[in-house]
Amino acid sequence: MAIRKVGVIGAGLMGHGIAQVAAQGGCEVLVCEAQQGFLDKGLERIDKSLAKLAEKAKEKGQTFDAAAVRARIRGTLSKADLADCDLVVEAIVEDLDVKKALFAELGKIVKKDGIFASNTSSFPIAEMATASGRADRFVGLHFFNPVQLMKLVEVVKTDKTNEDVVAQARAFGEACGKSPITCKDTPGFVVNRLLVPYMAEAMKLAERGDASIPDIDVAMKLGCGYPMGPFELTDYVGLDTTLFILQGWVKRYPNDPAFQIPKLLEAKVKEGKLGRKTGQGFYTWQGDKRV
Ligand code: CAA
Ligand code: NAD
Repeated sequence: MAIRKVGVIGAGLMGHGIAQVAAQGGCEVLVCEAQQGFLDKGLERIDKSLAKLAEKAKEKGQTFDAAAVRARIRGTLSKADLADCDLVVEAIVEDLDVKKALFAELGKIVKKDGIFASNTSSFPIAEMATASGRADRFVGLHFFNPVQLMKLVEVVKTDKTNEDVVAQARAFGEACGKSPITCKDTPGFVVNRLLVPYMAEAMKLAERGDASIPDIDVAMKLGCGYPMGPFELTDYVGLDTTLFILQGWVKRYPNDPAFQIPKLLEAKVKEGKLGRKTGQGFYTWQGDKRV
C-alpha cells in the first residue's frame, strides 16, 4: 500500500512543517487541530514557508509550485475526518497520557490498515502503540525542527512493528525529502539521546557561572562548527518541550546522571519564557530573528 493520504495532528512548530513536507512529497494532507485559532496559525506558517521556498527557487532559476502544494493541504477540527488516512502522524504536546488517549481514540476512527506514527521527542513508542490497539502498524517518525530545512527523519520501530510498516514509513520519509535512519525504541532514539543531555549540561555550566550564555553559544558554534549554540537551539526547540522531555526521563530513570533538570530551565518555563515562540527564552526574539 502506498501512502497517499496523510493526517497530521497538531499544527504547531512541528505539525505545520510535517504537513507541508508531506504535501511537497505529493500526499493529500489533512491537518487536525484542537482549536480554530491554532489551525489558522499553522496554515499561515505553511503559507509563509511556501512563499519563502518559492522565492528561493526563483532566485536559483528553479520552479517551485507553491500553489499546487498548498492545494493538497486542508485543515479540520474533527478527528473523524481522518478515517480514511493511510498514515496519521501525531505532533501534539509532549505529554504521554495525552498522546495515549489520542491514539486510543484514533484506533477506533481510522481505517484498520492505516499506519500510526508519533513525532514524540522522548516517549516510548511502544506505550502509544499499545494504546492505539494496532501495535504492529505503529512507528515513531521523528522529524527535526525546522522540518522544512532539516534533512533527517528517525524511523523508530518497536518489537511489534511490522517490517512492511517500517519500509512504508521510510519511503514516506524519502517522499518528504528526508534521509531516514532506522532505530530502536530507546529514550531519545539517536539524536535526542545525545542532544538533550548536551543542552542540559550547557545550562548547568551557565548556572555555575563558568561562562556566559552568549559565550557558551559562541564556543560551540566556532569550536565545533555547530550552526547554533545550545541556548539558541533550546530557544528554537522550545524551553517547555525541552523541560517536558527531561521531566519524562527523570521520572522514568531517576538514577541516570545523564538526565537532570537544570534549575535555570525550570525557572524560565515558570516565567513563561518558552523561547522563540513566545519572543523570550534565553534570548529575545522578534519573529524569527534574535535581537
Ligand atoms: N521554511 C522555509 N524557509 C525557511 C524556514 C522554513 N521553515 N526557516 C528558515 N527558512 C529560510 C530563512 O528565511 C532563510 O532565508 P534567507 O536566506 O532568504 O534569509 C534561509 O532559510 C536560511 O535560514 P537562516 O537565515 O536562519 O540560516 P541558517 O543557514 O542558519 O539555517 C537552520 C537555519 C537550518 C535552522 C540552521 O541554523 C540549523 O541547522 N540550526 C540547527 C537546527 C537544529 O539543530 N535542529 C534540530 C533541533 S532538535 C529537534 O528538532 C528534535 C527534538 O525532538 C527537540
Ligand atoms: P507545539 O506546542 O508548537 O504544537 C503542539 C500543537 O498541538 C498545538 O498547536 C496544540 O494546539 C496542538 N494540540 C494539542 N493537543 C491536541 C489534540 N488533542 N488534538 C489536536 N491538536 C492538539 O509543539 P511542537 O514543538 O510542535 O511539538 C509537538 C511534538 O513534536 C512534541 O511531541 C515534541 O516533543 C515533538 N518534537 C518537537 C520538536 C521541537 O523542536 N519543538 C522537534 C521534534 C519533535
